Amino acid sequence: MNKIKIRALKYRGIFKPRVEQRDGVLERQIGRITIECIVGDIAAQKDCRAVVNAANAQLLPGGGVAGAIHIAAGPGLAVECRKWAPIKPGEAVMTSGHNLPNQYVIHCLGPIYGKDKPSDLLLANCYRNALKIMQENKIDSIAFPAISTGVFGYPKAEAARVAFKTIIDMVGQLDPDKRIRFVLHTKSDLEIHQKVLSELTA
Ligand code: APR
Repeated sequence: MNKIKIRALKYRGIFKPRVEQRDGVLERQIGRITIECIVGDIAAQKDCRAVVNAANAQLLPGGGVAGAIHIAAGPGLAVECRKWAPIKPGEAVMTSGHNLPNQYVIHCLGPIYGKDKPSDLLLANCYRNALKIMQENKIDSIAFPAISTGVFGYPKAEAARVAFKTIIDMVGQLDPDKRIRFVLHTKSDLEIHQKVLSELTA
């Protein structure tokens, strides 16, 4: 959503960003959708119905997010994943959460920065497809990692901009009262995401 669109929605009272900053957590309300940014472990988000995996094409256990999720979920997750693999950059598929505290895992394959092109569109597709799955399955809360910003090398601020823009663009297509959380690995990643989200919704 560009600035003119946001201004028009603000004028019509649809887009009223409400900002709350507490204990290093940024919470932003866009219409009736809440976006949160926190520092934490993606595999320990007890209060989210779904958690997103920054997967590999084969949906196998890996390092980073894919390692944390598969370890916490147990071996049943990799077995269930077999029926969906391989997936392409930008795609998202859903499995159950197994031993995770979440009912569902939505697996997204992010682009390898500079190799899978256009990287920004493929990354946006990850977020769009994950939110479509969220909407279709009436999932009220979801936790995302910063897809592609680890092993896949996507610059963090650029990736955050793509992620938040995509979500803001989709707000009108989502049922109200959904909670979308970004779980960042470090305080500096949190600060990058807070800055980008604040800029996009200022
Ligand atoms: N919780 C939250 N964030 C995490 C965690 C965790 N437990 N572990 C790592 N991160 C952060 C990283 O610091 C990075 O910012 O998540 C972001 C994504 O990192 P990766 O997991 O490396 O994901 P990605 O860049 O999409 O690369 C995917 O990595 O592990 C392999 O098999 C996986 O091939 C796939 C590739």
